[in-house]
Amino acid sequence: MIEVKLAKTAGFCFGVKRAMEQVYKEIEEGENLPIYTFGPIIHNEEVVKELEKKGVKAIETEEELFSLTSGTVIIRSHGVGKEIYKRLEQKGIKILDATCPFVKKIHKIVEEQEKQGRRIVIIGNKLHPEVEGIIGWCEKPAILIATEQEAEKLTIKEEKLCIVAQTTFNYKKFQDLVEIISKKGYDIIVLNTICNATKERQIEAREIAKSVEVMIVIGGKHSSNTQKLFEICKKECENTYYIQTLVDLDLSALKSMGSVGITAGASTPNNIIEEVHTNVRIKF
Ligand code: F3S
Repeated sequence: MIEVKLAKTAGFCFGVKRAMEQVYKEIEEGENLPIYTFGPIIHNEEVVKELEKKGVKAIETEEELFSLTSGTVIIRSHGVGKEIYKRLEQKGIKILDATCPFVKKIHKIVEEQEKQGRRIVIIGNKLHPEVEGIIGWCEKPAILIATEQEAEKLTIKEEKLCIVAQTTFNYKKFQDLVEIISKKGYDIIVLNTICNATKERQIEAREIAKSVEVMIVIGGKHSSNTQKLFEICKKECENTYYIQTLVDLDLSALKSMGSVGITAGASTPNNIIEEVHTNVRIKF
C-alpha cells in the first residue's frame, strides 16, 4: 500500500478562507444584487465558475468596474488601491471589503510611513494585483524591486526609505534584496510583511517532497503561489506533478511508487484536495 502524506497547510490560507466566507454570506443574504468581484475571487477556475452559477460576476477591467451603476462589489483578499474605494463610493456601489487583514496592514504602513517622509519601496512582483493595490495607497510613485539587478540599480534622491514586501514574496530573496539596498547608505525602515501562511506552506511542502517518491501540487494554472510550491517541490522530488484537479492526474504514474506527498496552493478548495487525496489512497 502506498504511503500518502497530505500537507496540513495545503489549500486556503486564512485570508482566502475569510474572503470566500464573505462571498457566500453575501450570496445568501442577497440584499444588494447583482454581486461582482473585482477580478476572480481566487485563482481557481472551478470556484469562479461555481460562483458565476450563483450570480457572482468577476469583473476584469477598471472601465467595467467604473461603469457599474448598482449592486455590490467584493474586493478580494489581494486588496485594491485607495482610488477604487473612492470611485465606487461616489457611485453609491456597496463595497464588501474582503481584503486580507495582512494586506490591509501593508496599506496602512505605506500610508503612515509616507506621511513621515519615507519613500516606499515594494519588494514584489510588479504585475501582481496585490502589489498594484499597495501602489494605490502611496501618494508618490512607489519603487518596485523584484530582482538583484533592480536592487543594485536603485538610485533615488530621497534619503529615507520604507521597504515592504508582497505577502507572498520569497523570504530568502527578500532578505538578499534588502541587504543590497541597505549597503547604499539610505536611512531605511524594513518591514517584513511576508505572510507566514505562504512560508509555512512552502516549508512543509519542501519537507514532504524530500521524503516521498512522488509529489502532487494542486492549484490553479495562474496561481503564483502554487507555481512557487511546484518549483520548491520539484527541486526536492523529481517526480513532482502540477495539477488543477483530479482529472489532470495520471494515476498510472503512481504505480509501483511507495510514497506520495500532496500539497496545494492558497486558492485550492478543500473538496478538490480531498478528492485527490481519497483517490490516491483508494487506488493504491
Ligand atoms: Fe492573507 Fe497571507 Fe493568505 S496575506 S490572503 S493569509 S497568503
